Amino acid sequence: MSEIELFAADEPAMLVLGAKIAEVTGGAGVIYLHGDLGAGKTTLSRGIIRGLGHTGAVKSPTFTLVEPYEIGSVRAFHFDLYRLVDPEELEFMGIRDYFDADNLCLVEWPQRGAGVLPKADLDITITPHGAGRRLHLQAQGERGAAWCSALAVEAN
Ligand SMILES: Nc1ncnc2c1ncn2[C@@H]1O[C@H](COP(=O)(O)OP(=O)(O)OP(=O)(O)O)[C@@H](O)[C@H]1O
Ligand SMILES: [Mg+2]
Repeated sequence: MSEIELFAADEPAMLVLGAKIAEVTGGAGVIYLHGDLGAGKTTLSRGIIRGLGHTGAVKSPTFTLVEPYEIGSVRAFHFDLYRLVDPEELEFMGIRDYFDADNLCLVEWPQRGAGVLPKADLDITITPHGAGRRLHLQAQGERGAAWCSALAVEAN
């Protein structure tokens, strides 16, 4: 299944969706998070990272560009490229090392890294929906499609 739509009525529901997404990824892959300022990208990332088993804080990496997490055998990296001035900065950061096939990478504002950022398995676009949020998940390739299928089964 190449795309799926999910809804989260409030912040706790968003965290639950994040945990479900974490589960289907098994802790490896690349997810781009799209949506306006305040859409809920960091909230969903928090749900995903907590869903992997992280019990501490999940801060927005707006100023640090990336926040690393080691959760058992899973290595997760949460990027926020809002303040990236030039995609080339990612080369200086050693971006390829973060995007090792065994890691899970979550990227807010991926368009700021266009041309340098490795490809995503899944694009998630978050938009307001009443008082809550609508999530449109678009798979980019087989891995993302498998995740969407697994999430669709759960949603029904
Ligand atoms: N499903 C939801 N329903 C209602 N409110 C939500 C939902 N998810 C998140 N929020 C609220 O949206 C606000 C902004 O969330 P968040 O910081 O995650 O946005 P963001 O997309 O990461 O923004 P930025 O682009 O600035 O990084 C928070 O106050 C959060 O509680
Ligand atoms: Mg954010």
